[in-house]
Amino acid sequence: MIVKPDAVGKNAIGQIIARVEGEGFVVRQLQMVQLSAERAGQFYHVHHDKPFYGELVEFMTSGPAVPMVLERDNAVAHLRDFIGPTNSNEAPAGTIRGDFGTDVQCNAVHASDSLENAAIEIAFYFGE
Ligand code: RTP
Ligand code: MG
Repeated sequence: MIVKPDAVGKNAIGQIIARVEGEGFVVRQLQMVQLSAERAGQFYHVHHDKPFYGELVEFMTSGPAVPMVLERDNAVAHLRDFIGPTNSNEAPAGTIRGDFGTDVQCNAVHASDSLENAAIEIAFYFGE
């Protein structure tokens, strides 16, 4: 999971981590990073041909972000469900994006969407 710059800017790092810990996740690795445009673009390369790509890179470089490694059974599906849909305006109250996100872009957190991508993303921030 990554606490994105909007949620870091709202002083919500601790509240978000408390919620995922409350769901049974264990924090295994954690750091604060200031992404460069190059690194942010690399991380979201899958979206490089989307109309929102430029804004996404700008957003992800707008302040520090907090990537972390979380462990739990059924972690990917459970966390994706717990954070809510991409658009914070459609995310129910009680989900992380519903409670801490603002809109479709500023949505508080990123969560890996498969075990395969989780492995790639963990290596991206924490090495093999
Ligand atoms: P994420 O990868 O960050 O966990 O989010 P996601 O799977 O729910 O959504 P995805 O489609 O992968 O989009 C990645 C991030 O790009 C921003 N976005 N902006 N302006 C827009 O229409 C738009 N759509 C997506 C969001 O920050 C989204 O989380
Ligand atoms: Mg995604």
